[in-house]
Amino acid sequence: METIDDPYLRHLFDGEPVFNVYNKQATNLSVGAPGPDLLQHCVGMIKKATDHRLEAEKKEGKYYLFQYGITAGLWECREELAKFLTRRYGDPVKRENLILTCGASHGLQLLLNTVLSPNGVIFVEEVTYMIALDAFKQFPLMRIVPIPMKNDIVDLNAFEKVLAEEKQNGNFLTNEQKIFWAMFYTIPTFHNPTGTTLPPASCKRLVEIARRNSIMVVCDDVYNLLYYGDGFPPRRLFSYDDPTDPEYKGGHVVSNGSLSKILSPAIRFGWIECSPRVANIFKTSGILRSGGAVNHYVSGVVTSLLQLNIQENYLDKLIQIYKERLSVLCSVLDRCLPQCCSYQRPEGGYFVWIHLPLGNTICFHRRLFDVITEIYNTKWKFNLFIDINGSDFIKWCQKEYKVSAIPGIQFSYLGRSHNFLRLSIGFHRKEVLEAAVKTLCKALLEYINKNNDCTKS
Ligand SMILES: Cc1ncc(COP(=O)(O)O)c(C=O)c1O
Repeated sequence: METIDDPYLRHLFDGEPVFNVYNKQATNLSVGAPGPDLLQHCVGMIKKATDHRLEAEKKEGKYYLFQYGITAGLWECREELAKFLTRRYGDPVKRENLILTCGASHGLQLLLNTVLSPNGVIFVEEVTYMIALDAFKQFPLMRIVPIPMKNDIVDLNAFEKVLAEEKQNGNFLTNEQKIFWAMFYTIPTFHNPTGTTLPPASCKRLVEIARRNSIMVVCDDVYNLLYYGDGFPPRRLFSYDDPTDPEYKGGHVVSNGSLSKILSPAIRFGWIECSPRVANIFKTSGILRSGGAVNHYVSGVVTSLLQLNIQENYLDKLIQIYKERLSVLCSVLDRCLPQCCSYQRPEGGYFVWIHLPLGNTICFHRRLFDVITEIYNTKWKFNLFIDINGSDFIKWCQKEYKVSAIPGIQFSYLGRSHNFLRLSIGFHRKEVLEAAVKTLCKALLEYINKNNDCTKS
């Protein structure tokens, strides 16, 4: 008889000793979630907000918060959220464009179930959030089509070509609810895994492509507010799809946001920001109507977090902490990353995407190379015909150095991008990150030298 595997685990990574973020014997740089030093603040914040909200319920005496809620989500929560996002984006967000969800993952599933053709096409970037790929695979009638990237950003020329082919070849089931034959799933701001942000000209062009081809662009906007520069964060793609534009055509961009990275993943609170035509379809959703909003009670507590400015103050603090972590991590990479590897410093979010050598690359440890060049005043060349497989390296590095990260192949639908690693600043304190990234760089250099012929030319 088939059995169910249900071991006693208290945390998502408990079953996998190497990936267990709480394992003091190893450092796992994989995890895109806040660590306990940050989550500890949730205790006080949630307590204050809960007390505040429960008092209000008592005063009102109807106890609506313990009743079914309205389909789009608690009105006052959407109102406060719209004000909060308007302040933080530096761009207006309207309450009526918001539908509350249990987080971006849930938002994605709602979109797949509700407005996308059941035999539609899901375009994804060559590397993308790997668990979104798992979500897509559960819709076997939908085709997943990867789009190449250039400099870690989607190649829009390639996208237009592939889009035209797919559109021509398909016979898609659409109706007044399933209004899109295809969607492009993307993370335009502080991308997971590449850390890059889609430049404004590409944002404009992507919106034009979406309108011209009647597709929906679904943006996972879970990192947007973690911006480490001055002023407002980069504009979210949604704001480029301007309703006053003569070419608007009803709205083609959806912003899928959540508090997972800026408060706590466990509270499962998120929102979809969408055009009226998409919001109206959601409002007729049997699941949302039957359930009476998906997270009504939590939305009440979040309303108080927003009204009391608790979330806002915490976000300011969080940005400072993450900014410092990123700075520490990048300064180690600048000093210690082997010269044949590279990375682009992200402006926000959690992730740093390391390019490992692919094919014929000249490689040597940067500082050592400089010193030798200076001493001998000569041009030594270390020809390394190297192709480093991130998965093999990480397996070796875990064993030898007790540091791990995610190899690029895990983000690729086609199993490509083997020569990349993703590091996350989400979980560990800066001291832990600094030591682990130093070790990783040292390991990388040793691995490259060990696996390749280093000859003088
Ligand atoms: C791009 C992206 N989308 C969605 C999620 C999950 O978000 P949520 O916790 O809001 O479901 C993550 C978390 O790692 C992510 O990186």
